[in-house]
Amino acid sequence: MDDSTLDEKFIHQGDMLANRVKKKYKHLRKQFARENIEVFRLYDWDIPEIRAVVDWYAGHLVIGEYTRTQTVPEWLPAMGAAVAKALDVPPEMVHLKERRYGSRDGKRYKRLDYTDKKIVMSERDLKFYVNPDDYVDTGLFSDHRNTRMMVRDMAKGKDFLNLYCYTGAFTCYAAKGGARSTVSVDRSETAIAWVRENLRLNDIQDEGNTLFQEHTFAFLKKAKARDMRFNLAVVDPPSFSTTRVSGYDFDVVRDHPMLLTMVIELMTAGSTLFFSTNHQNFESNMGNLPVSGIKEITSETIPVDYESKKKTIHRCWEITI
Ligand SMILES: C[S@@+](CC[C@H](N)C(=O)[O-])C[C@H]1O[C@@H](n2cnc3c(N)ncnc32)[C@H](O)[C@@H]1O
Repeated sequence: MDDSTLDEKFIHQGDMLANRVKKKYKHLRKQFARENIEVFRLYDWDIPEIRAVVDWYAGHLVIGEYTRTQTVPEWLPAMGAAVAKALDVPPEMVHLKERRYGSRDGKRYKRLDYTDKKIVMSERDLKFYVNPDDYVDTGLFSDHRNTRMMVRDMAKGKDFLNLYCYTGAFTCYAAKGGARSTVSVDRSETAIAWVRENLRLNDIQDEGNTLFQEHTFAFLKKAKARDMRFNLAVVDPPSFSTTRVSGYDFDVVRDHPMLLTMVIELMTAGSTLFFSTNHQNFESNMGNLPVSGIKEITSETIPVDYESKKKTIHRCWEITI
């Protein structure tokens, strides 16, 4: 393809993307403003040839391209410029990033930049630090904002466990909901430092809100030995992790029964565990778990901005012990 045909193609795709995004923004803007929700999704690969994801962050745009080997470097800036123009966003508030499609989590979590700049976003009456530039993920997964509300509504007086806690958004909601204690576990030092920042940002005290920078399975063994007990938990693992489990890397499809069994051993009768996965071809194998109820609640946890016929961003279950 010569340069002029390429330009025309980019202009056409940019127009299509900008139209979609503008329409969705108009549709969602007021509703989210009423709820004081500043982070929401505007586009996720809805048009097959436009392999982009567009998120709104209180006037900032974070635009990703699902890359593959033949990606042309000019494509993403062209899409960014078109969307920014349509929503009247200045260039310094547009953040572009490549998302390697289909690669394992280790690669996807690789650092992209070193700005170390975090901005504060509101979600209802809570606030979270996000970093729009340095990593593929910004620090806040907005597809779980309804699940966070469910956790908050159940949290009063509970001892809450947040496994694979990342930046601690679930922990902040549980603490705000009146949890008696929270425990947050992540193997990443960056994530644990970020949880601490988010707790402070929301005036949640250190006391009673414990952070463990540890591999999940090491934590679970230790927690069992120490007789730790929880009555509310969130388990939201990556699809794959390079933590060795019996000699293998963790794979959520194969290993979720074992993971959940170990968590359930720490939980009291009648308590609730939310389990979520982003794996696109997840096959549930929870039939033998020693629990009293398992209900898939994906239709309740997917927010309006993530409703799509083509793709389910996550699946989620409420498990009653
Ligand atoms: C999908 S994110 C979890 C999102 C989080 N639940 C939230 O709502 O923001 C996955 C997290 O798991 C962590 N992680 C990956 N493998 C781990 C392991 N073996 N043990 C503990 N944490 C791990 C990563 O550091 C990352 O923060």
